Amino acid sequence: MCGIVGYIGTKKASPILINGLLRLEYRGYDSAGIATIEKDGISLMKDKGRVKNLYNLEGIDDLEGTIGIAHTRWATHGKPSKENSHPHIDNSKTFSVVHNGIIENYHELREFLADNGYTFYSQTDTEVIPNLIHYYYSKDEKNDELKFLRAVRNACKDLKGSFAIEVVCKDYPDNMIVVRKDSPLVIGKGDGENYISSDIPAILSFTRDFYLLNDLEFVILSRNDAKFYDIDLKPIDKKTKTIEWNASSAEKDGFDDYMLKEIYEQPTAIRETIGSKLTENSKCEFEDLTFTKEYLQSINKIYIVACGTAMHAGLAGKNAIEKLCKIPTEVDIASEFRYRDPIIDEKTLCIFISQSGETADTIAALKLSREKGAKTLAISNVIGSSITREADYSIYTHAGPEIAVASTKAYTSQVVLLILLSIYFAELLEIKNEDIANLKKEVLELPKKIEETLKTSEVVKEFSKKVYQEKDMFFLGRGIDETVAKEGSLKLKEISYIHAESYAAGELKHGPIALIENDVTVIGIMTDPKLVEKTISNIQEVVTRGAKTLIVTNQDIDDKRFDMVIHIPHTNTFVSPILSIIPLQLFSYYISKEKGLDVDKPRNLAKSVTVE
Ligand code: M6R
Repeated sequence: MCGIVGYIGTKKASPILINGLLRLEYRGYDSAGIATIEKDGISLMKDKGRVKNLYNLEGIDDLEGTIGIAHTRWATHGKPSKENSHPHIDNSKTFSVVHNGIIENYHELREFLADNGYTFYSQTDTEVIPNLIHYYYSKDEKNDELKFLRAVRNACKDLKGSFAIEVVCKDYPDNMIVVRKDSPLVIGKGDGENYISSDIPAILSFTRDFYLLNDLEFVILSRNDAKFYDIDLKPIDKKTKTIEWNASSAEKDGFDDYMLKEIYEQPTAIRETIGSKLTENSKCEFEDLTFTKEYLQSINKIYIVACGTAMHAGLAGKNAIEKLCKIPTEVDIASEFRYRDPIIDEKTLCIFISQSGETADTIAALKLSREKGAKTLAISNVIGSSITREADYSIYTHAGPEIAVASTKAYTSQVVLLILLSIYFAELLEIKNEDIANLKKEVLELPKKIEETLKTSEVVKEFSKKVYQEKDMFFLGRGIDETVAKEGSLKLKEISYIHAESYAAGELKHGPIALIENDVTVIGIMTDPKLVEKTISNIQEVVTRGAKTLIVTNQDIDDKRFDMVIHIPHTNTFVSPILSIIPLQLFSYYISKEKGLDVDKPRNLAKSVTVE
């Protein structure tokens, strides 16, 4: 949540900063601002509302500074307002700071600083940071080149919580300091310039060489250099990492919205995620995994822990692992997992799924599992993301940058990766299961079948036009289809603001059916041949009560019973979520468009949830 951009180079900083913020707006868009170092000191320009409002601020075009920091906010402490917008500045106007994260002890720090004569002008937790830096700076009698760094380091030692911060100082007009703890921040290395950002895609058009920071590594940036220090201010040697994503993968490429582009990128995302891990006639291989048969035999439980859509992908993973490997697997919501005292020991394998790799709850759940002695495996889409640096093992989806807040290609890539993982485990365990050979074939055919499924777009759009003004919708399925119902319902809520519920179809008559009345829309998913007749009976119960029905199926059913039936290619129940979710992604998309909403940046949501 919140997006940070920084620039230090020879070009005018303000257009670069605003451009970067526009790309990071999916992280939060309550207010935005930039601070640049000008000839007469630090200039601050900020306001509430969207980033584009910055273009209207008086004097923004006159900024000449070539060093600057910038921020787009997702409000936590203090309502969206100009005063609460970042950057913040200390009372003496020496330091300006942008911050992503939450300072948990800001009350105590505020009182401490107030007792020392500092005044506060916002309700934010962030405003303590520039003032605390100033406090230490003013107490430091040594006037050497590390004075700025010492002040930032000393202030950070006092901060509890999570933070990624950029600091500029009017006394050091050719430097910027950045540091992170439990909040994302990367540095892009250019030629005679450095870029800073909360994520890689925002600055991919400038460079593909990145420094990835660990917690509490302090960086002094100058135009031609980046010097790294640990918390004791001992220098650290750090190399850049070249990122394979190309700049166009972070562009809309002619699509109206990132979400639609990302839906259509799914054949490629799945192909890339499968990569060379799987061929029809050889064993499934994960270059980065060194699990042994003995280890897998020693574990008695797997936890899959994640949030939102990633958790829904975990449900498909549980289905595959339990069915193929017979290892009991539980799926948990990260924010609950860590507080429910889960039973974990060295016989537990904990798998954490996070597209961004920066979700605070998921990272905290991982740390807890590690402390309790479990082995940890991270699944992420972002190389070098926090979760991958914390885990014992990491494997990656290769979905390319996902910009739209509503996750689409990351979900299907996570499901395919989990299926590959379960095949890998089953083969290591030497489990003889005739499903495996068939499953490999089905996985390899997925990109083609996704392309087929995408052709349902027009029919889905037609149905969306009929129901976009509805207030409530229900998603029903049984078995693996229930997991897709959950994901379909989440997608709809997020971007259309329609109240949506998902249920195991058989559960409806135990209560929720009381909500079904004339013209309520019910979406049924039916891909499991063993359960299709049962689900049809449940849907029949709502049809009888006047519901409008949309069915997504790969089975031969009597279409006449329903208002609209979307037929998708046939596949088995391990991989069916990857196909059956696609019409539902399109459904949410078209409903959101019909309602004239901002598909990529739905209200109140941020792409990366880096606070608890
Ligand atoms: O980056 P992560 O995969 O950890 O994000 C987890 C959830 O916040 C995310 O999947 C969220 O539910 C999406 N907006 C859903 O579309």
